[in-house]
Amino acid sequence: MAMTKPQGPAAKAAEAAPTSNTTVVGRKAAPRAGLAAFWHSSIGKKWVMAVTGLLFVLFLLFHMFGNLKVFFGPDTFNEYAGWLRTFGDPVLHGDWFLWILRFILVVAIALHLTAAFQLWLRDRRARPIRYASGQRPQANLDRLTTVYGGIVVVAFLVWHLLDLTAGAIGSTHFQEGNAYQNVYNDFQHWWANLIYIVAVAVLGLHINHGFWSASQTLGLNNPRRDVAIKATGSLLAVLIAVGFMMIPIGVMTGIVK
Ligand code: HEM
Repeated sequence: MAMTKPQGPAAKAAEAAPTSNTTVVGRKAAPRAGLAAFWHSSIGKKWVMAVTGLLFVLFLLFHMFGNLKVFFGPDTFNEYAGWLRTFGDPVLHGDWFLWILRFILVVAIALHLTAAFQLWLRDRRARPIRYASGQRPQANLDRLTTVYGGIVVVAFLVWHLLDLTAGAIGSTHFQEGNAYQNVYNDFQHWWANLIYIVAVAVLGLHINHGFWSASQTLGLNNPRRDVAIKATGSLLAVLIAVGFMMIPIGVMTGIVK
């Protein structure tokens, strides 16, 4: 009877990374198996980046639409922020949902960043001589958007959590449990508006490129679908970037009072 070849991302990973797929024990190299082989292969890391990236896009859509409630006044906005904390109660006790969401996000971000950094290192080691400046091909330009864009997004996220979740920086009048007032106070400062607007624009570029890369990694591309995939990525990127930008713009222009 003919043997069927193992299928799926883990099997592809094991095939794709014969050199990095081993652990040296004494003088013998023991092959890694299953999840370890998947994680240590380049294709496995790209899968992890694709899945965690898409998860984060889902969170951002949810977060952006929720934040747009700022246009309906403090009661509606704070009611939404409160709902987020107690969602799932009484099945989930108190603010358990929020903590589960936070845990998933932290794990997703940690995996996304680790995989990105390790892939970047591998790429550097494989190609130690850089392209001369001015001769960078398109692939390198895209890489600049993702690598530097990713760093800007992470720096922004740290700022944002310290600013609107912890109240440690940014606006000086942080009020626990009054998310509307905190957002409003924050966007009284031109520099806060600038930070948020620039960051979400960079986030949009990152999503636009990341969505396309993820679809390639997950094997969704083919000539008939490529236009639709690119259009979906761009639409998501614009929707998320413009949706978030509306909030500081709404406060700056006095629409949000
Ligand atoms: C104008 C843009 C944004 C506004 C007004 C905004 C507003 C807020 C507010 C008010 C909170 C605190 C909620 C609470 O503790 O009650 C929050 C939390 C958070 N935001 Fe944003 N956000 C914006 C953009 C972003 C972006 C672009 C990202 C991701 C790159 C992001 C990621 C998060 C995360 C991860 C949390 C923590 C959720 C939690 O643990 O409570 N936000 N945001």
